[in-house]
Amino acid sequence: MYEDIYERITDALVQYGYIVIEDALDETLTSELLAEAKEEQNYKLAGVSTASAMDANRRRDKIHWIEAKSETTQEFLDFINGLREYLNRSLYLGLSYYEAHFARYEKGDFYEKHLDAFKNSKNRVVTTVYYLNEEWHQEDGGELLICDEDSFITKVLPRANTLVVFMSEDFPHEVLPAKKERYSIAGWYRIDKF
Ligand code: OGA
Ligand code: MN
Repeated sequence: MYEDIYERITDALVQYGYIVIEDALDETLTSELLAEAKEEQNYKLAGVSTASAMDANRRRDKIHWIEAKSETTQEFLDFINGLREYLNRSLYLGLSYYEAHFARYEKGDFYEKHLDAFKNSKNRVVTTVYYLNEEWHQEDGGELLICDEDSFITKVLPRANTLVVFMSEDFPHEVLPAKKERYSIAGWYRIDKF
């Protein structure tokens, strides 16, 4: 059922290393995920992965790891798992595991420029970010800026049903300060569990 989008993502990862897809999945799924993200009470300040201590200067969003699987998150994870298998079959990536969290950025929250994985760390291999915000305009800020080693590549509004996929080691990225509450699901395919 998702074969077309899987193929699109795979081709783009080979050719460019990243892809931004608007209207990626089912709209009902997006709004159910948004409702679930908003209902969740248990958001915690995220630590920056390079430091054990939390660093509010670099990152202000609060996150909730997706563990218990509701029907809604299961549907999203079915899509994700199908993509994992497709990538493994076509690119031999050997992705064995996916971890993901809801992220809530409140007004003024941001995430400074960072990489999701260090070179050759053989840990996080492919990043996905899926946005849930139904009304989001230029003036609402909170854009994702994607760069490569040398320069700025593109800017993404965190609009509902936009999916971003990129090779975790190759694209430094940042989230500009959001001017209102902003929800996303960030996730990573890994080649081993820990
Ligand atoms: C992350 C991240 C981007 C976003 O959580 O590592 O880069 O737009 N998130 O939420
Ligand atoms: Mn990131």
